[in-house]
Amino acid sequence: MAMTTLGILGSGSGSNMQAILDAIDAGDLDARIGIVLSDHPDAYILERARRKGIRAEVIDCSGHRMKFPDVAQEETVRKLRDAGVELVCLAGFMRLVKRPLLDAFPSRILNIHPSLLPAFPGLEAWRQAVEAGVSESGVTVHMVDAGMDTGPILGQERVVVFPDDTPETLHARIQTVEHRLYPAMIGKYAAQLKL
Ligand code: GRF
Repeated sequence: MAMTTLGILGSGSGSNMQAILDAIDAGDLDARIGIVLSDHPDAYILERARRKGIRAEVIDCSGHRMKFPDVAQEETVRKLRDAGVELVCLAGFMRLVKRPLLDAFPSRILNIHPSLLPAFPGLEAWRQAVEAGVSESGVTVHMVDAGMDTGPILGQERVVVFPDDTPETLHARIQTVEHRLYPAMIGKYAAQLKL
């Protein structure tokens, strides 16, 4: 099977992107990252990518706090296609993807979410879990559709919530699971698609 070219979209620190890179370097994931895109010029994910010599660029969403404007999505599609991307991986990307990006990559956009969906969609799912007082949460990898964290689920893993957990301690435990689950699910999904 040929190596899959990934495009990563992220707004934050990029630890999941790093985990994907580590899995590639370790020979556990037959892929390469063609481009990393962020809606935040200062996001650490861009710096991490550039340090590894990966093309890393900003998507201009200025003037829009939460929205992912159509023109910005069109620019994203152009950049992803130009980099030869076959599978798009959202990794801490904080804007809702809609058309035209969904139409350009049908069934080719994945996301990682820090809860056992459908529980706790949306922002800071680890904080939602602690505030709800649940005894377990987890991690979900799913396909992206036009809803918020609603696409078909590809894989999940449970994470225990301890009585003395704070949002921060739970998030840290969830992230160690994310870093294992996401690269594994990307590899499995790419194989299913015969990419
Ligand atoms: C992760 O917890 C992910 O599940 C959520 O945002 C966070 C991104 O972290 N959607 P990072 O930028 O990969 O470190």
